[in-house]
Formats: sequence, C-alpha cells, structure tokens
Amino acid sequence: MTRLGRVEQTRGRFAEPPLTPRTAVIWSVLRAELDRRGDAELTVLDVGGGTGGFAVPLARAGHRVTVVDASPDALAALTRRAAEAGVADRVAAVQGDGDALAELVEPAGVDLVLCHAVLEVVDDPTPVVAALATALRPGGAASVLVAGRAAAVLGRAMNGHLDVATTLAADPAGTAGPRDMLRRRYDASGAAALLGAAGLVVEEIHGVRVLADLLPAAVADGQSAALVELERALAAQPPYRDLAAQLHLFARRPA
Ligand SMILES: C[S@@+](CC[C@H](N)C(=O)[O-])C[C@H]1O[C@@H](n2cnc3c(N)ncnc32)[C@H](O)[C@@H]1O
Repeated sequence: MTRLGRVEQTRGRFAEPPLTPRTAVIWSVLRAELDRRGDAELTVLDVGGGTGGFAVPLARAGHRVTVVDASPDALAALTRRAAEAGVADRVAAVQGDGDALAELVEPAGVDLVLCHAVLEVVDDPTPVVAALATALRPGGAASVLVAGRAAAVLGRAMNGHLDVATTLAADPAGTAGPRDMLRRRYDASGAAALLGAAGLVVEEIHGVRVLADLLPAAVADGQSAALVELERALAAQPPYRDLAAQLHLFARRPA
C-alpha cells in the first residue's frame, strides 16, 4: 500500500480541512507526520503562509503556528480566520520578507516548517532554504511546495502560446521572460538538489495538480471527489508526478 493510501486510514486529533486537488496530497503527507509525532504539541513555522489555509487547521489540531508573510493584508485575513476558528492564541502573524528569514527566526526551534508557493517568488531561494533548515530542530521536517516547470510549458502550449512555451522550456530558470509572474520554476531533481544543498534530506516528492488545471471546469467541478482520488493516485508516480503544476517535497533535518 502506498503511503498516501496508508495515511487515509489513520485517525488522530487532526481536524480534516476540506480537501481539494490543491491541498489533498499535501495534507496526506502532513497528516502522516502529525500522526508520527503522536500527541506532541508542535512548533510550526509557515513561511509565506498567507491567509492561513494551512496554519489555521494546524492550530486547530493543537499546534503553535507562526506565519511569516510579506503581505499585511494576508496577515490581517489570517488573524481574522484564526479568531473565527477559536485558535487566535495559537497563531502568531509576523510581517517579514522571506528573503530575510534568517533574521526573523531562532535557530533549531521549529518542529515543522512550511514554505508553500514562495521559493518561486523570492529574490534568491538558496538563503531562504538555508534559513528554513536552520530554523528546524534536528529531526524536524520541511514541507516545501514549488511551481512545476513542465506543467507551465504544457499549459502555455495547450493555450496556443507556443512562443511562450518555447521560451519557458529553454530558460534555465523556467520563466517566460520579464512579464512572467514567477521568477523560477522547478523540476523534481532541481528542487531536491536545492533542499539537499541546505542539508535537508528529501524523503518524498509528490505532484500537486497533475490533472486539475488541464481538465474542463465541468469535469473538475462535476467530479471533484473522483478528481481528488485520481490526483492522490498519480501524485507519487513519475511521469505523472513530474507533469504536475506544483511539486511538493517533504524533507527532514537529520537528527
Ligand atoms: C501564492 S501565496 C501562497 C500562500 C500559502 N503558502 C499557500 O500555499 O496557500 C504566496 C504567499 O507568499 C507571500 N510572499 C510573497 N513574496 C514573499 C516574500 N518575499 N516573503 C514572504 N512572503 C512572501 C505572499 O504575500 C503570499 O501570501
């Protein structure tokens, strides 16, 4: 049985958030880590955690979460959301730039660090990942989500933008030029190398949204539960994994 199949059968104190093609695979991986830690109250750091889509459910599960984000608006929404969920005392909002993360966090004080959809927008991902690794206690885990390069090439081409797809495929950073919203995109080996260079040991890589962005809305919306299940089934399997819109890496600081 795959790990994703196995964790579906576990039941802890974790309150299941709504699962979507964007979140289901990540929550499966995170829930396995929470189950592994038993009843321990974890210290969690969510870098670029935005409005708290992950932070608030983790706080509801009994953990203490600090969200560092550059956007005051996102942090205000996070604070409201945490209050509405009754976990305001478990969620700290810190305005800060991910590029200066090393100045914002104490070393070796965090059990679980999240960095989702951030490494593709910061100035330089290398010091950010180094700061994530430094923030972790030995044995602590990192959940890192990055934009996938192959999906961006396919997506541009399928929308008829063959020139953009060509640029994106040839660009070393996986961008489509100055008008691209993202500064870089990754394939699985490149993302794993980035984390490995910071001393993190990558344990799992999954694709997130292998199919979701390719399907007509009528199919994605009309068969949402089946789509979530299919996304789970394909997430760990190359070549499907490598075509996903995002790549999720779960890594650990060696004990
Ligand atoms: C695409 S959202 C992802 C939010 C959340 N991590 C998620 O996956 O749902 C990116 C977030 O990163 C924040 N962000 C962008 N650049 C940042 C930076 N340099 N430092 C810290 N946060 C940043 C944005 O404000 C936004 O909340």
